[in-house]
Amino acid sequence: MNVLVTGGSGALGSQVVEALRQAGVQVVAPTHAEVDLTDADALSAMLAHYNPTHIVNCAAQRRPDRCESEDEAVIALNVLLPKRLAAFGRPLVHISTDYVFNGANAPYNEEAPRRPLNAYGRQKAEAETLIEALPNVLILRVPILFGPIQDWSNSAVTVLAANLLKAKGGSVMMDDIAIRYPTFTCDIAQQILRLLPHVGVRFQGIYHYSGEEAMTKFTMGMTMAPLVGCDASQCLPDHRPTPVPRPYDCHLSTRKLRQTGLFVAPTPFATALIKALMVSH
Ligand SMILES: NC(=O)c1ccc[n+]([C@@H]2O[C@H](COP(=O)([O-])OP(=O)(O)OC[C@H]3O[C@@H](n4cnc5c(N)ncnc54)[C@H](OP(=O)(O)O)[C@@H]3O)[C@@H](O)[C@H]2O)c1
Repeated sequence: MNVLVTGGSGALGSQVVEALRQAGVQVVAPTHAEVDLTDADALSAMLAHYNPTHIVNCAAQRRPDRCESEDEAVIALNVLLPKRLAAFGRPLVHISTDYVFNGANAPYNEEAPRRPLNAYGRQKAEAETLIEALPNVLILRVPILFGPIQDWSNSAVTVLAANLLKAKGGSVMMDDIAIRYPTFTCDIAQQILRLLPHVGVRFQGIYHYSGEEAMTKFTMGMTMAPLVGCDASQCLPDHRPTPVPRPYDCHLSTRKLRQTGLFVAPTPFATALIKALMVSH
């Protein structure tokens, strides 16, 4: 395989690149500075240049507040990019999100109707509808991610550790409403490594991958505080609604993926967290 990873500098993409390279797979992962993926001509030129046998699309604008504007660049990245990559015809793993659901009817299987609550969810849902039927495409939906990253504030999970440290002993409000299933990027990367050779051959369509521990940001923070030298009492539960609506509980059922026989068992949250925080710093 000669794999193109888009978004290879991101939280998930960097771990996908690492896992593929560790497995001896040939990988190309041009940076944003090298190729702007919202530019259709630059994208075509890049695909022609590398002529990858497989593609893993980890590029996206994944911050819901930045997606609300629905501006051209965001649509180009979250909706048009997956369509253009799929049209190249080679096996494609496209990463999607639990935010395609409204969070009112968990757990969700792959066939559950998409009912996004915010613009980010709508864009990811639209991308799915454009490519899900193509024989070369596997869409992997994942929930909130964490893993080794340089800047803790670039993940909705490890930002809690960054905020605790910044507060220097002071208290930090953490959402205690929405139920989340934090999922380790290294586990997802291993899952993609296992699936990739079979995409478009044995497997096509939508699959779910998820951690299995139900938490709120507040309970994540309580687990994290002692690991970064803070006191759990600094974490305060926040019960106010967020400015951009977010789903309550989008628990993704992983039954379909387990049935493939290739399922990667999720690392327990506390174990994965130690790895993520230690490797990063
Ligand atoms: N993070 C989560 O909690 C979460 C939850 C569910 C699903 N997902 C999905 O998982 C996937 C990976 O997310 P992530 O958290 O790894 O995202 P991320 O850390 O924000 O990484 C996004 C990547 O896309 C690149 N990128 C953005 N705009 C680009 C452009 N115009 N041209 C070229 N590259 C561009 C970024 O490069 P630069 O940084 O250099 O711009 C970065 O490498 C996404 O599909 C996301 O929707 C994420």
